[in-house]
Amino acid sequence: MSFLVVEGLVAGYGEARVLHGVDLSVAEGEICAILGPNGAGKTTLLRALSGMVRARGVIRLGGTALTGRPPDAVARLGVAHVPEGRGTFMPLTVEENLRLGAFVRRRGREVEDDLDRVCTYFPPLRDRLGQVAGSLSGGEQQMLALGRALMLRPRVLLLDEPSLGLAPLVTRELFRIVQAINQEERTTVVVVEQNAHLALGVARQAHVLETGRIVLSGTAERIRADEQVAQSYLGYRV
Ligand SMILES: Nc1ncnc2c1ncn2[C@@H]1O[C@H](COP(=O)(O)OP(=O)(O)OP(=O)(O)O)[C@@H](O)[C@H]1O
Ligand SMILES: [Mg+2]
Repeated sequence: MSFLVVEGLVAGYGEARVLHGVDLSVAEGEICAILGPNGAGKTTLLRALSGMVRARGVIRLGGTALTGRPPDAVARLGVAHVPEGRGTFMPLTVEENLRLGAFVRRRGREVEDDLDRVCTYFPPLRDRLGQVAGSLSGGEQQMLALGRALMLRPRVLLLDEPSLGLAPLVTRELFRIVQAINQEERTTVVVVEQNAHLALGVARQAHVLETGRIVLSGTAERIRADEQVAQSYLGYRV
């Protein structure tokens, strides 16, 4: 059963078209990886899903049409986007950043519980709640970005290159936590990753995007096992 459905998605910037009719579907509770070379349109795809760039075509989440809705409306419907570059507010404290993640929800007990829950997933954040985000390490900032997204209680988590600029050990820990969130909260995850090996290690399905089109879709095992695919589409061995 498809939860997130994308059909014939076209998107770009001004006159420049980047996505030329993307089709993909993601089952509820699944982790789906989007792979592909630089400039393929991976970031643009996530931006289209969260309403940050204008798009045409079908985007449906659990039967609700998302296409054409502004980002805050898409967030209210349960889509949390952790953008490239993380998007945390550097002068604000960790706690202020986390509370911003709950902006579409009313305050109160629920938000306090969620703050606690996020800090359980990311213990370093609990120790740094009063610290400004700009003073965090790269790994802690990525944790904060993820934590802020979780504060929305999302149905779908869109992650853009979570490993960017992080040490391998830190990245592995982050992916372990993403997997735990997926399993414990049943949150559907769409993760864009340059590190194909890492992404295929946690994903069930994967799609390879090349110049704005999906050129290959399959189970993560299948895509990982196919060395030819790895070399021609991913540009390197996985
Ligand atoms: N804000 C923008 N304005 C105009 N063109 C853009 C903008 N952002 C991206 N593009 C162009 O859209 C195309 C796809 O970019 P996109 O960032 O979606 O690719 P990507 O697959 O995420 O690449 P990377 O792996 O480098 O992050 C590129 O040609 C890029 O130059
Ligand atoms: Mg990108």
